[in-house]
Amino acid sequence: MSRRTHSTSPTPTRPPKRPKLDHLTKDDFKNGVFLAPMVRSGALPTRLFALKHGATLVWGPEIVDKAILHSTREVDPVTGVISYNGVSRAIFATHPVEKPHLIYQIGSADPDLAVQAAKTVMQDVSGIDLNCGCPKPFSTHAGMGAALLTNSDLLCSILTALRREMPPHITVTAKIRLLPSQEDTLKLVERIVNTGISALTVHCRTRNMREKDKAVIERLKEIVDFVEGMGKGIAVVENGDCLEWEDAKRVRAVTGAHSVMIARGAEANPSCFSPEPLKDVEATLVPAYLRLSQYLENHFNLTKFCVNQFKGVRVDVTKAESHAIRQALTQAKDYTDVNDMMGSFSGEKELQAIINAIENNPPREHRMILDDETESPNAAESTQAHATITPEGTQNPEPPGSGAPFLPSDMDRIFTAIPGRDATTPTPSGRLSLIPIQACQLFSLVDLDHVD
Ligand SMILES: Cc1cc2nc3c(=O)[nH]c(=O)nc-3n(C[C@H](O)[C@H](O)[C@H](O)COP(=O)(O)O)c2cc1C
Repeated sequence: MSRRTHSTSPTPTRPPKRPKLDHLTKDDFKNGVFLAPMVRSGALPTRLFALKHGATLVWGPEIVDKAILHSTREVDPVTGVISYNGVSRAIFATHPVEKPHLIYQIGSADPDLAVQAAKTVMQDVSGIDLNCGCPKPFSTHAGMGAALLTNSDLLCSILTALRREMPPHITVTAKIRLLPSQEDTLKLVERIVNTGISALTVHCRTRNMREKDKAVIERLKEIVDFVEGMGKGIAVVENGDCLEWEDAKRVRAVTGAHSVMIARGAEANPSCFSPEPLKDVEATLVPAYLRLSQYLENHFNLTKFCVNQFKGVRVDVTKAESHAIRQALTQAKDYTDVNDMMGSFSGEKELQAIINAIENNPPREHRMILDDETESPNAAESTQAHATITPEGTQNPEPPGSGAPFLPSDMDRIFTAIPGRDATTPTPSGRLSLIPIQACQLFSLVDLDHVD
């Protein structure tokens, strides 16, 4: 259980300033670069850093409908973190500052359960997304995820029910994979678009393709043209093999997609949404991420997992220094073991810096327009008032004065204070953790590269 007394009141005692934009429209899914849904890696601190560094919208990790239904909503009066807690664990955690930009992803094979799950969280999110792409057996054997791709009646009945039952200000979207045949894909897309969704994400791999297989993004152009031809103003979002902001321009130029969604690039560096992603992540991102995660009471093992995925261009940090930090992290059992890595800047200030960045430069205004409009199949759209905006405060390095030492000042102590090496992350018992019970945690982490 959290160390703080929680309130069940709907608002935290220190709510952030009222967001400038109240709810999402179809246009908010256009000209954006989005954080993809990612079990584990899409944890709250990652989503907040993604928003700080220019992601226009963020997807939460897939949560199976039933998992959230009987949770209790609690608000941390100090941080404002909202937790949906199950019997022994938090299932989902969010913060009010991300609400205007947050899409909650559901795993479901049942329209009623999907609607109930969506109603459970809708006060804290801006949109509901249906996962129609997860190829893992735990998902497909229950008729969820990629199984929906070949059961379009069920898929569309879930989307129709969500659209009918959700208030208009909550968007409904879907994330699919390609079907083996383009003709079948277009038929499916037509049905999905006719359910009234606001946007469609296409992961440009088929159900049987793995992440090591190159995404077939060239198939998307025809799908984008097809959806535009339907005249409903729906955004098509490309997903697959886009690594960062600069790369998103290439992907848009090839596919004509209205927006691009990044998963593994953001898992490796949540600042990849900035035209200038953070370099030397061990000295910049890692300390900031640890500080924020500790303050938000993000479960340490989840934090450790996410930090272990971080990779970036090294300029001043040597390979040996990077290795030493990762070793220290591997051995750490809780936040006190990584205290020296966090520096003197507090987690509270880290959160405040993120809130300021989000409120002063609303993520949805970070629109991505191709430099050369003639390259874009959506050139007409590009002539809108938007421009390529470099979100202020998102450049490398982290704000000066963050106080993070280049390396833990006391590496020897870290190494010697912790007996032995333990790379495992046992699930702690007792304390209510912020490690979400998410669909894909039901199987081994080594299989996560197969998650859709
Ligand atoms: C760690 C991890 C967890 C994922 N979890 C989800 C998920 O919960 N829901 C989902 O729709 N896709 C999930 N995916 C798939 C991604 O959203 C994305 O479709 C896929 O990784 C391809 O994008 P990329 O090439 O940018 O990585 C996950 C991917 C990874 C790497």
